Amino acid sequence: MVTEEEILARLKPGCICKGIKLHRIIQAIENGATSFKQISQITGIGGGSCGSKRCGQKVAELLKYKENIELFAREEE
Ligand code: FES
Repeated sequence: MVTEEEILARLKPGCICKGIKLHRIIQAIENGATSFKQISQITGIGGGSCGSKRCGQKVAELLKYKENIELFAREEE
């Protein structure tokens, strides 16, 4: 079953200038990407008119979020 969060990520932009949806960035992170460069290579974000400022901020927030989730999970063990 697809969650509401997943549906929203499919609709929200990850890179407005190239029309790349947020869920592609999330997928790249879930598949192991750990840097903007890796995510850029996988998804194609970062080469548009924003010069990585807009999408770079989103990626930084998502990577930080994942890092915090993993840290929290380790502390729970
Ligand atoms: S939002 Fe498109 S390259 Fe940054």
